[in-house]
Amino acid sequence: MDDFLKRLPKAELHLHIEGTLEPELMFSLARRNAVTLPYADVDEVRAAYDFADLPSFLELYYQGMSVLRTAEDFHDLAMDYFRRAHREGVVHVEMHFDPQAHLARGVELETVMEGLGTARREAERQLGLSTAMIMAFLRDRPAQEAMQLLERAAPFWETLDAVGLDSAERGHPPSKFREVFERARMLGIPRVAHAGEEGPPEYIREALDLLDVCRIDHGVRCLEDPELVERLRDDRVVLTVCPLSNVRLKVVERIEDHPLPRLLDAGLRLTLNSDDPAYFGGGMLDNFRACQRAFDWSRETFVQLAESAIDAAFIGETRRLELL
Ligand code: ADE
Ligand code: ZN
Repeated sequence: MDDFLKRLPKAELHLHIEGTLEPELMFSLARRNAVTLPYADVDEVRAAYDFADLPSFLELYYQGMSVLRTAEDFHDLAMDYFRRAHREGVVHVEMHFDPQAHLARGVELETVMEGLGTARREAERQLGLSTAMIMAFLRDRPAQEAMQLLERAAPFWETLDAVGLDSAERGHPPSKFREVFERARMLGIPRVAHAGEEGPPEYIREALDLLDVCRIDHGVRCLEDPELVERLRDDRVVLTVCPLSNVRLKVVERIEDHPLPRLLDAGLRLTLNSDDPAYFGGGMLDNFRACQRAFDWSRETFVQLAESAIDAAFIGETRRLELL
């Protein structure tokens, strides 16, 4: 089974590229850029990854990315991940990235786009790995700032496969970003949003009704609202679920308690993803393995999950047929 899971062509639809920063690379970039880290060594970094909830993780996540300064840094970050993912049988990666977190530190959008763009082309050429870009808005910052980012990204609109919504969910409903997402819609840019990770089912409804998203990132709390589950099923909305992330951020206590089997039983379209693999104890293969151990799913179930991901990916039909 392990070999089967490794060889299964996996598409990852929910990944934060800044969340792939392994402690080793964090230290090497800190040295390169003369950034001082509040840790003595990589063991101390790993020991600090004990999170109470989403906000307590985000604090370390934003601190960690302070070592990313140049286009080369973003290139190295992404290539480091693409190589790892490729070794795990990942064939396609859609990466969220957080420009506002970089702009706030004086790192220009052009720098981020140049570094990630170079890595994407290299991954395609060297690994045959296709990639997509999801520019995320930080929901715990003002909507006006998100709108400014969208306008500032004009030279890159063509490069963006989608815009997304991430960061601290509670108290920051999708409705706050209605105008920004409407502008993205007018520009023809597809939309996704994190909803129902820590936030209530109502946020999932808002993301669908007000932001017109085509996928919900996480969405696991939909089960608290049977009518919403029915709607998600009838409208064939894809949920990009991140099992190990949910355990590490205490959305669920143990992987065995994860709602994935109930979501599957409800007939929802699901995909498995790693979210922030460097922080949550593993990449795509580890997430697939954790589900296998916890739920003892059949090969057919894993094939179904992997096919849903390829089906819902931001790729052209030629690439989709190649992967299916
Ligand atoms: N940013 C990075 N990881 C995140 C997550 N799991 N939820 C919301 N925002 C994030
Ligand atoms: Zn996420």
